Amino acid sequence: MAKIIPVPVFDGVVFGATGDLTLRKLLPALYYRFRDGQMPPDARIFGAARSNLSDDAFRDRARDALAKHVPKDALEPEQVEAFCQRLFYVAIDAAKPASDWSALRDALDEARVRMFYLATSPDLYGPICRNLKDAGLITAESRVVLEKPIGHDLESARAINDDVGAVFAEKQTFRIDHYLGKETVQNLMALRFANSIFERLWTSDVIDHVQITVAETVGVEGRGGYYDHSGAMRDMVQNHILQLLCLIAMEPPVSLDADRVRDEKLKVLRALRPIAAHEAATLTVRGQYAAGAVEGKPVPGYLTDLGGDETSRTETFVALKAEVRSWRWANVPFYLRTGKRLPQKVSEIVLQFRALPFSIFPAELGGFEPNRLIIRLQPEEGMRLEMMTKEPGPGGLRLRPTGLDISFEKAFGLRYADAYERLLMDTVRGNATLFMRRDEVEAAWTWADPILDAWAAQPEPPRPYPAGSWGPTAAIALIERDGRTWHEEIG
Ligand code: BG6
Repeated sequence: MAKIIPVPVFDGVVFGATGDLTLRKLLPALYYRFRDGQMPPDARIFGAARSNLSDDAFRDRARDALAKHVPKDALEPEQVEAFCQRLFYVAIDAAKPASDWSALRDALDEARVRMFYLATSPDLYGPICRNLKDAGLITAESRVVLEKPIGHDLESARAINDDVGAVFAEKQTFRIDHYLGKETVQNLMALRFANSIFERLWTSDVIDHVQITVAETVGVEGRGGYYDHSGAMRDMVQNHILQLLCLIAMEPPVSLDADRVRDEKLKVLRALRPIAAHEAATLTVRGQYAAGAVEGKPVPGYLTDLGGDETSRTETFVALKAEVRSWRWANVPFYLRTGKRLPQKVSEIVLQFRALPFSIFPAELGGFEPNRLIIRLQPEEGMRLEMMTKEPGPGGLRLRPTGLDISFEKAFGLRYADAYERLLMDTVRGNATLFMRRDEVEAAWTWADPILDAWAAQPEPPRPYPAGSWGPTAAIALIERDGRTWHEEIG
């Protein structure tokens, strides 16, 4: 097994400690890092929230959360106990003045790295940061972690960034996009820049188009309050999908230094062709799921999931055609789509190569599929290069597509660390490569805002699609108009 890079001893403070993200993602991620010996045994995690809990009551919640979200074979009772003993709790109302924060001040150790994780609603980011400063809690070795969404448009993102930036330097600010912590996403850097074959093919001469699909089977799962103000564009496209697009489209960075990588991603975001209001109807499709069936089970529509708010125009599906204006990507469309209540949970990037310029094989030997490189983020992380080969056996030469397959799990036989495990430890180490810089977030909003504005101005609501389908038929038309099809494998 690869050597795990150690992290310094730290005190972590998680605001929003009784919330879903902390219980479902952060505590399990920290537990795994503790169990695997990466989190130093005397590091401490302070849960901070409004409820009045004792340390023991918070530990009980943590035990329950681990039992629920960590598979049984990974729950080692002694390790769980030892980990829970590293958890503490402070009752804090984030909106209250800093003078009420003395318990936290007394608890933290001056000499340690401090990680303040804001797992709260973004409107609390500014007040929490100001209070941390006024309470004298920020040391040179402090970092702040912000969950997405950073704002709901460019203006609100700037306001949040200004508030946080008035307290924390940019190099202390870690804006999470958990997609950047996924194993395959990191592998993309290896694929492109540690192999000599692919980078030469990574150009408009060879690549016909790129597809990025992030499909989910779940609905809004009790997050309707947040989601209805967000929608698929703000929840998935502005951040996760654009970050994936950046990693595919960026030029090689001059080094792996965080800022050099982020400089290149920023150039891609700035090269995205703005979609004007009059183009929104042809270059974008938004949908909202109606009742249907997913994985054989009937499920209600979005409006019912919301509790019967019949007026919501929030999109739960987006498909669009993006363009990156650069020499490398001229005339190579990027088709992006994401949605809830689709038939499969699958996240993948497909690079489709150009068709053969001329074929010596008669058509009756088999249909030609253009070569494709499929990069799967989930499930079964891996990559597959689809090639045409001869069908084995006698009886003449027949062709068929075959995949050169690398399944990471089969190749390495490891459990993949959840994105949060890597991102939490990178924060403590102060490595910001996998986090969004302020200018990236703002460039992404600069591109997304006009599309959102155009939708808001359209009289018609999002197109309905039955739960369990691949979205509105207009999404199929979006790509088929260009003589292409979405890559879909049901399996
Ligand atoms: C989150 C979104 O950022 O990503 C959710 O807010 C979405 O709506 C989730 O379900 C998807 O993440 P993953 O890792 O399951 O693909």
